Order: sequence, then C-alpha cells, then structure tokens
Amino acid sequence: MCLADAGRIPKETAMKFFVDTADIKEIKELHDLGLLDGVTTNPSLILKSGGKIAEVTKQICDIVEGPVSAEVVATEFNQMMAEAEVLAKIAPNVCIKVPLTLDGLKACKTIRTEMKRMVNVTLCFSANQALLAAKAGASFISPFVGRIDDTGSDGMELISEIRTIYDNYDFKTEILTASVRTVNHVKQAALIGADVVTAPPATLKALVNHPLTDKGLAAFLADWAKTGQKIG
Ligand code: G3P
Repeated sequence: MCLADAGRIPKETAMKFFVDTADIKEIKELHDLGLLDGVTTNPSLILKSGGKIAEVTKQICDIVEGPVSAEVVATEFNQMMAEAEVLAKIAPNVCIKVPLTLDGLKACKTIRTEMKRMVNVTLCFSANQALLAAKAGASFISPFVGRIDDTGSDGMELISEIRTIYDNYDFKTEILTASVRTVNHVKQAALIGADVVTAPPATLKALVNHPLTDKGLAAFLADWAKTGQKIG
C-alpha cells in the first residue's frame, strides 16, 4: 500500500509514483519504502536488466500490485496484438505499452475494449498525440519531458497543455510524466496536476534530500547526546 492511502487524500486523487526501471533490487527497495504505485519498463530498460522480458516482468509483478508497463516491440497491428496477448498472460497487473503510431492507437483501442486491459501509450511528444491516445481509450499517456527538454523546448509545457485538453473534455486517461530527469520535473508535474510521474530510482530517492534537513538533524542529535537521556 502506498503512503497516499494512509492520509486523508484518497489515492484516486493523489499523484502516483511509478519507477522507470527493470532493476528488481531497486524496485524492491522502493516498494519496501512504501513509495511505489507502479512500474514502467521499455525495451532499453529490459536490455539494461540483462533478463528476459517475461521473467523480469513476472518478477516485478510479484513485488508491485499496481500497473507494470511492459512494451510491445511489433510495429504492425496484428503482431502488436499477438505480443499484447503474451504480455497480458504474465500477470493481471501488466499494463500493455504501445507506441504512439496509427497501429499503436488501433491496438490501444482493441486492447481496451476486447482484452479489457490497461494500456500505456508511449513516446508522446505533442498535445495532439495525447488527444488521439485519449480518444483511443488509453489508460495512461506518456509524454517524454526530458527528451523534449533535450531539443531545447520545454517538456513541462506539454504536460500543461495535455492537462488542459483532458480537463476540457473530462478524458479519464492519466497523464504519466515520463523521461523524468530531475527532482524539479517531479515538482513541476505535481504543480500542473499530472496524475503520475515515472522516474529513475535515483530521482525518486533524491526527492527526500535537503541540506537543511541534514544540518538540522545533526544539530538535534548532537544536543540530544549532551542530555545523556534515552527514549524508552
Ligand atoms: O520509459 C520511458 C522514459 O521514461 C524514458 O526516459 O530518460 O530514456 O528519456 P529517458
């Protein structure tokens, strides 16, 4: 269970944290910290893990209850559907990830309506692409903010545009801010009202850091030692 469940904010309205990795050790650590609502993987992350997609995805699904995105690699509709069937059999929480192409959108609609599975439409770089994904019934849209920043444009501006469009029409597709590179991306996504961020493990863990927290804690501990007391 995520920490968001423990407070007064219902989970449905709280920002979700997904980790963007296929590293089992990292996933387990973040899960044990209570920080994880889901996981996203992609072919590059599977390569980095050194494992086989079915085995790695199964291991992740055994740890995390929430959506675990596993990506098809076919580019043609029928082959995408065949791969989606294979990935869906791994676990009930596998969310099928498809690319933002015409075949990918067709697969999205079919997976949602016929297989009744979650779909994450990935490689989104424009508001119109996000509009198409929502119309195809995507559960998640993944705009890649870091890669947009790399080109000199502002990735967070896209998150803002998609938020406005989805709110205009009450689309239920969740905005999954992807290609997150910095803690500032996470803060900006939260300020805009993105539903989810997926970030590398190091970025998620870095959210806790502040030098004044470290300094303050050191001072409290030093003063406490001088009291000679113990609690309990
Ligand atoms: O999962 C897709 C996305 O998060 C990739 O990020 O850093 O490779 O642009 P990056």
